[in-house]
Amino acid sequence: MRVACPGSFDPITLGHLNIIERSAALYEEVVVLVTYNPSKSGMFNADERVELISSVVSHLSNVTVDTWSGLLVDYTTAHDIPVLVKGLRSSLDYEYELPMAQMNKRLSGVETNFLMTDPELGYISSTLCKEVAKFGGSLDGLLPPVVVDALLARLRQ
Ligand code: PNS
Repeated sequence: MRVACPGSFDPITLGHLNIIERSAALYEEVVVLVTYNPSKSGMFNADERVELISSVVSHLSNVTVDTWSGLLVDYTTAHDIPVLVKGLRSSLDYEYELPMAQMNKRLSGVETNFLMTDPELGYISSTLCKEVAKFGGSLDGLLPPVVVDALLARLRQ
């Protein structure tokens, strides 16, 4: 089965990567889909996010990366993707994800499968990582090294 892992990925974290790796072990094909979230402003543009993700999933032969700026379900319908996979860190994520999963199901029939985030990664978010970086905190164990470099370079600009 082909599935999509959609998200903003601004930038990809080790939490995202863990969900992608586990999805790649469960499903035949995984499309990591950089999707536009109208309620978030970005640090990296879509092409930069795709480049960073591509560099950290290169060891996963059944994972591809794509970008989409329209309705998520239009992409999944056009690409014969019956299932979305997302990570759940906490009940806050559940409250945020449930209406999206239900709306996507209503719009197109696409199902959403949730993987529970591994506990040691449960507090990691792109937003918090960017904030830690802005104030000079350590990003060790939060982001892949190539992403740390890109984030620090962006902040120096
Ligand atoms: O990583 P995020 O920001 O929590 O991911 C949310 C995302 C990008 C998956 C969501 O905003 C989305 O699906 N955007 C595409 C537009 C869309 O389909 N909106 C309706 C969602 S029910």
